[in-house]
Amino acid sequence: MTNILLTGGAGYIGSHTYVALVSAGYRPIILDDYSNSHPGVIARLEDITGQPVAHVRGSVLDVAMVSALIEQHAVQAVLHFAGFKAVGESVAEPLKYFDNNITGTVRLMQAMERAGCRALVFSSSATVYGDPAAVPITEAFPLAHTSPYGYSKIACEHIIAAMLAAKPDWHASVLRYFNPVGAHPSGLIGESPQGVPNNLMPYVAQVATGKRAHLNVWGADYPTPDGTGLRDYIHVMDLAEGHVAALDALLQTGRSFTVNLGTGAGHSVLEVVRAFSLACGHAVPYKICERRPGDIAQCYADATLALQLLGWRAQRTLADMCADTWRWQSRNPDGYHEAAIA
Ligand code: UD1
Repeated sequence: MTNILLTGGAGYIGSHTYVALVSAGYRPIILDDYSNSHPGVIARLEDITGQPVAHVRGSVLDVAMVSALIEQHAVQAVLHFAGFKAVGESVAEPLKYFDNNITGTVRLMQAMERAGCRALVFSSSATVYGDPAAVPITEAFPLAHTSPYGYSKIACEHIIAAMLAAKPDWHASVLRYFNPVGAHPSGLIGESPQGVPNNLMPYVAQVATGKRAHLNVWGADYPTPDGTGLRDYIHVMDLAEGHVAALDALLQTGRSFTVNLGTGAGHSVLEVVRAFSLACGHAVPYKICERRPGDIAQCYADATLALQLLGWRAQRTLADMCADTWRWQSRNPDGYHEAAIA
């Protein structure tokens, strides 16, 4: 059994990757401080996998605790999901983002170095491409930041690259996610944003359950086929399986790489609204509004490198993403809130 540490393993992407890792025969251990996740997810993961979940409450900033945890479990690799990801909040609270995302990554790598674990899978984002000059976006595109959040991801990529250059025994896989959506098909785990969702799919899902009156479509005058923004939505289970493929490659070859995890196709806001209406069986009301400041017209991946390097490609359709989101949202309209009480 190969033990893997998942920082932020109780969060949206971490929890789905936990399930994929167990299916692939790995033994994941969750480290989470629950600052942007919920302890209720642990019982749900036990339901899905039929096994106890190894989990520790704590912060990646605690070098002594993390290095002891790595040693105690003979951890072979770390998947680092413990980052904040709200663009608007990062503009309002930049130090919060620099501390948790950048300092958190530095401290985690210090703990790994101290404990002798030198294989890292890092959660980066398509946000590192800024406003891309063209689509589809390849990994060779220049990096640019448009927010402190984006800056934090680019900074971490640089920090990892510097370590790889300095220390030949370190290996890292940097995964640039496009737009993760959807939920595990059981409907037991999914995205559970605190407060008003910033992202499209959770907002649409809350309109569909009646929690919110209508969707605000941020701009219908973009240079796209229907005027609304185009994004590369990727099912979170495809993304989770992408992590397993990246981890396999990292542990088998010992070679480092940076790769896009997307589907390679873009969907507009109105396409998502239509697909969601089909999934939930009723109309999703929306209003066309002004553009959201900082948004870009279109963003989708060139997904060729992931296929070449990892033999991985996304399998699930937009209809699957909407059906699985709807199952999760309709069964858990308040996310993990009720699980917390139980
Ligand atoms: C956003 C972040 C990005 C981050 C990603 C995480 C911004 C500017 N970018 O990307 O850095 O990595 O989330 O998933 O916040 N939309 C609406 N109404 C809504 C919400 C969204 O019309 O209520 C539209 C947006 O204008 C956009 C599309 O839906 O065209 C997707 O938006 P969103 O889900 O917020 O993702 P990104 O903007 O791509």
